[in-house]
Amino acid sequence: MPGSSDKTFYLETFGCQMNVHDSEKVIGTLLQQGYRQVPTVEEAGLVLYNTCSIRDKAEQKVFHRLNDYKKLLAQGKKFGVLGCVAQQEGEKIFERAPYVSLVAGSASYRHLPAMLVQIENGQRSTGLDDRQTDECFETELTARTNPYRGYITIIEGCDKFCAYCVVPYTRGKERSRTSQSVLAEARQLADLGYSEIQLLGQNVNSYRDPQQTITFAELLLAIGEVQGIERVRFTTSHPRDFTRDIVDAIDASPALCDHVHLPVQSGSTRVLDAMQRLYTRDEYLERIAWIHGARRDISLTSDLIVGFPGETEREFEETLSLLDAVGYDSAFTFKYSPRPNTPAIGLEDAIPDEEKSRRLAVLNEKQRQISAHRNKRHIGDIVRVMVEGKNEARGQWIGRTSQIKVLNFTAGAGADFKAGSYVDVMVTTTFPNSLVGVACE
Ligand code: 5AD
Ligand code: SF4
Repeated sequence: MPGSSDKTFYLETFGCQMNVHDSEKVIGTLLQQGYRQVPTVEEAGLVLYNTCSIRDKAEQKVFHRLNDYKKLLAQGKKFGVLGCVAQQEGEKIFERAPYVSLVAGSASYRHLPAMLVQIENGQRSTGLDDRQTDECFETELTARTNPYRGYITIIEGCDKFCAYCVVPYTRGKERSRTSQSVLAEARQLADLGYSEIQLLGQNVNSYRDPQQTITFAELLLAIGEVQGIERVRFTTSHPRDFTRDIVDAIDASPALCDHVHLPVQSGSTRVLDAMQRLYTRDEYLERIAWIHGARRDISLTSDLIVGFPGETEREFEETLSLLDAVGYDSAFTFKYSPRPNTPAIGLEDAIPDEEKSRRLAVLNEKQRQISAHRNKRHIGDIVRVMVEGKNEARGQWIGRTSQIKVLNFTAGAGADFKAGSYVDVMVTTTFPNSLVGVACE
């Protein structure tokens, strides 16, 4: 009986959407093992952190938390570190924080039930040796936190080895789930009332059906056909594996959202080569031309890094000019952060932090102007949104467009919209990061 168990856990998640969804599956596994989730560390017998090590700041967070909670050890609590910091630091975590009893990377989560038994028996447990596995983490029970948008991991790990990135070392080798199992999960979600599905993978479009029945674009189309599914998203796409049939699929299937997240990282072919990104500026722009050529108005977003070792002012300016050439609706921008084990850690010509900050500010300002300009085009449009909630203080509902933009809107007296429902909204005002409108009667 859930709720009656004396085995309790608290789980905090850091980092990307993959981690958030991994946590949903980890929580499902713990519930299956008779644990009960509690909302605070104080109430928990087992305290878990699902960690991120993509940049230095993210990595530091977990050690701050562990330090803060050291005093709670006396109360008999157990601590576990999961995710990318766990995989990266491995047993060194026990040296730094001796009160930790579980350290496991994401490739080992299949073994969590056995690991839990070990720590319950007072032993230490590690899950660090599975990065070469061909298996994915599939669970019957996923504790989904969002009642209308269901996440499905279709591919785990990464074989790209970009020079700056820890992911291939922390999440292990690339492995795809069968299209059969992905489609079964999509149908199950639709039956449970989910109307939006988001397919996840570090490189979601590198998906290779192990039974070789269908391609990634065909998988998108098949999910778009599932009865009850109104919106299909996928993230993150790698430019090297971005094929034209993905654009054709978006054009062909109304359920596929008008949005592609296609991280470029840099606008300079020289820097892209040093980053080992496996494409040139021109090859990237060729993919963008396919997307711009679609019949639908597909929104583009990106990730960019400034201050990669050796990046000159001129090369940085090529990144700025690429923003103009593409016209992203928004972008996640980062200062290069040296990461352990990665090839770039040994590169010379480090850029001083103040210079990285300056480039970041220039880049952000440029993108802000582009976003503002692009959003203005929507004034007067009628756009369908999925309702995500209500901001009571402002008297506005919060909606999400197919292009993944936030559209806050008001409605006539007496109107009420449930989270997860769909509403047509007329756009009246725009900002760089959101749109404002009024619900159509
Ligand atoms: N430094 C800065 N940004 C990084 N990213 C990945 N590794 C690093 C790093 N070492 C960024 C990339 C990636 C996003 C998820 O994080 O832009 O696309
Ligand atoms: Fe990291 Fe590159 Fe793999 Fe993305 S493709 S996860 S940036 S190594």
